Amino acid sequence: MALWGGRFTQAADQRFKLFNDSLRFDYRLAEQDITGSVAWSKALVTVNVLTQDEQQQLESALGVLLEEVRANPQQILESDAEDIHSWVEGRLIEKVGALGKKLHTGRSRNDQVATDLKLWCKVQVQYLLDATRQLQQALVSTAEANQDAVMPGYTHLQRAQPVTFAHWCLAYVEMLARDESRLQDTLKRLDVSPLGCGALAGTAYEIDRQQLADWLGFTSATRNSLDTVSDRDHVLELLSDASIGMIHLSRFAEDLIFFNTGEAGFVELSDRVTSGSSLMPQKKNPDALELIRGKCGRVQGALTAMSMTLKGLPLAYNKDMQEDKEGLFDALDTWLDCLQMAELVLDGIQVKRPRCQEAAEQGYANSTELADYLVAKGVPFREAHHIVGEVVVAAMGQGVALEAMTLETLQSFSSVIGDDVYPILALQSCLDKRNAQGGVSPHQVSVAISDAKQRLKQGAS
Ligand code: ARG
Repeated sequence: MALWGGRFTQAADQRFKLFNDSLRFDYRLAEQDITGSVAWSKALVTVNVLTQDEQQQLESALGVLLEEVRANPQQILESDAEDIHSWVEGRLIEKVGALGKKLHTGRSRNDQVATDLKLWCKVQVQYLLDATRQLQQALVSTAEANQDAVMPGYTHLQRAQPVTFAHWCLAYVEMLARDESRLQDTLKRLDVSPLGCGALAGTAYEIDRQQLADWLGFTSATRNSLDTVSDRDHVLELLSDASIGMIHLSRFAEDLIFFNTGEAGFVELSDRVTSGSSLMPQKKNPDALELIRGKCGRVQGALTAMSMTLKGLPLAYNKDMQEDKEGLFDALDTWLDCLQMAELVLDGIQVKRPRCQEAAEQGYANSTELADYLVAKGVPFREAHHIVGEVVVAAMGQGVALEAMTLETLQSFSSVIGDDVYPILALQSCLDKRNAQGGVSPHQVSVAISDAKQRLKQGAS
């Protein structure tokens, strides 16, 4: 059933219909369209368009429809209705007859679609918040189990200073905590009801929009009807939340892909999240992680696409805005999948401690310690930095670590060096010394783990 047609003498070209219809993707809004319709039917009683009895009939038919949709959402796709709004109205009329035709009084698909999409976003945000928190939980558990796994930390992908695997995990907990708080922020601005704004100028029926907002679980109702039907800021915000979240996940993936290489060998990924090569029998590829890294692209694309679609759109609703859904659905589905997949990857990860330790001991990661030692003996830092640079060149020439050099050799670079230098050069001391807030010392890491656990238990980001 088309929702319009009175003013048309010719049927739509089939190719135009296919081009114009949105049911094949907006069928996902079915539950929200039904919920919004129930609330609207209640509002229509307050303005005497429907009697209590008529509203009851509509509400119970919509309730049955909701059950049918939940049992089999795909059935919607068999219809040739233009969009989900036409489909719901059509099914309602099939169930209750002419009474169903009263429901659209004072409502437009413009305020309807805005309402449906916001309701849908609110549900998705909850799924994303849960998944973000679960991944943080998994990272905290992995951190807890690997507090003593020392490995090289990198800058410029050059071994820089030793860190622990736990500290690495906690870095991602921080990123995810920010992702979580970004979603919470988005939710606040999103939680405002569009229903009752009509096509663009407001509804002609004296409806209490705040009451309508309450029925739908929104905190308030929007303030300007023109803005309301043309506002898709929440779509842009969610897409940018997703873009940043996916950037974080792609970095997580890249780090682990590197840690899992034969060259690094710091971790071994579980067979459950890797796959083999059709040609090379020895291979075990980190496909789950590569896909997380790769899928970041389509999410950034969706944000760009939506920004470009909205740019320069005149007020109020324009059909361009129908383009908001596919990108949003895909981006949020992708983000959710990747959060869950990242959790699965962590679940079976094995940290190869001896190899991590060995790598941390190589690469002169304790050079800063030697410089700090010289500073403590009164050598100005810039000079100390230069001296240590020379020591490193010599050590590299001998193919040994700093701590393997004899005291005599070390003293040839600076006479202030004594044999109290050796404990300073030990890996553990490099870690222990970084004990200011946020540092890698075992104490700070254990504080960070308990803080994160506390925060996750309380549900705050
Ligand atoms: N399918 C449309 C969308 O997604 C619904 C709103 C249509 N409104 C209209 N005036 N044609 O945006």
